[in-house]
Amino acid sequence: MGTNNGESLIDSISTFEEDIISGLLSTKKSLPSKYFYDERGDELFQQIMHLDEYYLTNKELEIFNRHKQGILDTISDGEPFRIIELGAGDGLKTKILLKYFMDQGAKFTYRPVDISRNVLEILEENLLEEIPELNIQSFEGDYFEALEEISESPERDIVFFLGSNIGNFSKEEAVGFLSSLQEYLKPGDLLFMGVDMKKDPAAILSAYNDSRGITKEFNLNLLDRINAELSADFKRENFMHYPYYNPQTGECRSYLISTVEQEVKVSDELIHFRAWEAIFMEISKKYDEVQLKKLAGESGFNIITSFQDEMKWFSDVVWSKE
Ligand code: TRP
Repeated sequence: MGTNNGESLIDSISTFEEDIISGLLSTKKSLPSKYFYDERGDELFQQIMHLDEYYLTNKELEIFNRHKQGILDTISDGEPFRIIELGAGDGLKTKILLKYFMDQGAKFTYRPVDISRNVLEILEENLLEEIPELNIQSFEGDYFEALEEISESPERDIVFFLGSNIGNFSKEEAVGFLSSLQEYLKPGDLLFMGVDMKKDPAAILSAYNDSRGITKEFNLNLLDRINAELSADFKRENFMHYPYYNPQTGECRSYLISTVEQEVKVSDELIHFRAWEAIFMEISKKYDEVQLKKLAGESGFNIITSFQDEMKWFSDVVWSKE
């Protein structure tokens, strides 16, 4: 991130409007998935996380329940440590580990990182209700702001990056993100990361194409948001939601497809859609053991161990700085 001087910081900041319009004017249209999360988007996302078809949450929960002692043994050396969680959400899964670690007398601070103050407040309230003695120090800001203080912290830091959030990067972006994360870590610090594994393509596809249409709604909500915030006139009935899984690359990509030829006004731009032209929305990449090994190597990490659910659908990997 270009934060070394004022100029590069300004260069790297773009507005909602600029990002949306430049995505829609590209030859291959796309919309940045970071804009999914307005108030309605947050709500729909929580609903997705609780769907049965969205197996990822349950599998990672199963891993935490099955392996909590193994996980504690791996990340703790008896000295105080901090858990830095990037993108903590509602803490439903992490709570299982935090509660267990407390019960075992582990000495640690929990530091959830999120750009939304609102999300952090709900999370704190939630956690303190169940684990009143938990030491929480929330961090409101982006991932890299939070990571910057890691290199100076006197305690060992364990960075949690759960829920297959790494899958929302392409392979190249993932290497870029993990390489810079690795540079912030001190010797002895660890990365604890949830990764969704390759499996029956039908199971993967239905996680992103649920029968109640919540994921579809989540994608279409971005068009509603653009309508409301950029006085645009997207007609949602002219778009279909189309997720697609490629078993060779492990990429599940979602699209909104224009079912008719149409013009859409967004701010002062008129965007033309050919019939069946697609807008790329998001990637959710699945890995296998070989690809994970390569990812660790290319981003400067050593593989320590990993924990799986019984069916090996999901994996939580523990990596250290090389
Ligand atoms: N990272 C998770 C995943 O890839 C959660 C997620 C992000 C998600 N964007 C999504 C889930 C869009 C469903 C739809 O699965």
